[in-house]
Amino acid sequence: MRYQPLSASFYRSNRSRFMAQMNGNSLAVFNSNDIYPISADSTLPFAQHRDIFYLCGVDQEESILVLFPNAIDPQHREVLFVRETNAHIAVWEGAKLSKAQATALTGIETVYWLSDFDRVFQELSTQCDRFYFNTNEHHRQAVETQTREDRFIAKCKQDYPAHSVAKSNPILQQLRSVKAAEEIAQMQTACNITEKGIRRLLGFIEPGVWEYEIEAELAHEFLKNRSKGFAYTPIIASGNNANVLHYTENNCQCKAGELILMDVAAEYGNYSSDLTRTFPVSGRFTDRQRAVYEAVLRVKKEATKLLTPGTIWKEFHVEVGALITRELLELGLLDKLDVAQQDPNSPAYKKYFMHGTAHHIGLDTHDYGLLHLPMEANMVFTVEPGIYIPEEGFGIRIEDDVVVQQEGEPVNLMANIPIEVEEIEDLMNR
Ligand code: GLY
Ligand code: MN
Ligand code: MN
Repeated sequence: MRYQPLSASFYRSNRSRFMAQMNGNSLAVFNSNDIYPISADSTLPFAQHRDIFYLCGVDQEESILVLFPNAIDPQHREVLFVRETNAHIAVWEGAKLSKAQATALTGIETVYWLSDFDRVFQELSTQCDRFYFNTNEHHRQAVETQTREDRFIAKCKQDYPAHSVAKSNPILQQLRSVKAAEEIAQMQTACNITEKGIRRLLGFIEPGVWEYEIEAELAHEFLKNRSKGFAYTPIIASGNNANVLHYTENNCQCKAGELILMDVAAEYGNYSSDLTRTFPVSGRFTDRQRAVYEAVLRVKKEATKLLTPGTIWKEFHVEVGALITRELLELGLLDKLDVAQQDPNSPAYKKYFMHGTAHHIGLDTHDYGLLHLPMEANMVFTVEPGIYIPEEGFGIRIEDDVVVQQEGEPVNLMANIPIEVEEIEDLMNR
């Protein structure tokens, strides 16, 4: 594998914690993602569904995991189905997991070929009364494409109409939101690879460079360090492009005097990092750019301190709103009247800072986590305030990934990535 996989005991522990929360005489099923088509015989690169990955570490298409804590045969409490490999597949696609390799990776003793699935599943379904289905309930999900999991659920409901159903997602939202030490180590590796990419850029960015050339430098550094690449579509936005929040074309030339906002980070072993840095294209901030940059940086530092056990995500955002409002007043972007007359449901600061300040991060960049519940130690959040001023031709965001601690301030997994004005200017002018 390109990355160092986590231990089988980590996956075993995830499964047992999941099964401990299942109720009744129930069985849970998790499918791999499809390989998505482009056209003709072209496909997008495979990306594993993060839930089956979290529960067993299998990073292969067409795998199915069944968890059945009350199975009559103890061998059927955890069952993994993988695509049968053969000499033809080995020649054309490369070797797939053997049963022994699948057991070593996942800690699951019972591994069948996928071709046995219908028969084995029929047998297991006669022993249970309820299926736990894995629907996507992430609060930001909006894609209408039918997934492999969706197809499985539809077929299962048709084939087994007398079974009742329950939801796996709330259990996974809660389990995945609190990270194990092994996962934090994997995320630290992703952040360290991101750091290498950013350091490479400090001597590379100058007037005349194209945004896509910066993307190419990062891709090179990420791949060279065992990452599959960007954890999400990179945003490399010079000048006013930074004021288009989801700008991903990255096709403009950077001009002297502009700022460049880069929301770019590596994945490692299917774990995301998520970073934003804003640098001056010419290597020096103007006084105004520097004033706004330092305001955003102050908010980032203060906001980070608020990520402590017991904090509620929505209340955190109200506090960050007050911090950013103070800075916008100081910068002359808002006046006291704007603030005095603001609608609390749409505060004045939103004109210059229109997105959230923190999201869970882990196997997904916008990771699982039930936002109405209090924060806990070992949750990992981004901290990403910004100020966007189209009329002045620039936008600034600064983003790091931090781990909530039981005591004291969060640990910043990106603490080594240059962020202070002097540091950035010094490294850019060497
Ligand atoms: N890169 C996506 C985000 O910052 O949320
Ligand atoms: Mn980001
Ligand atoms: Mn983010």
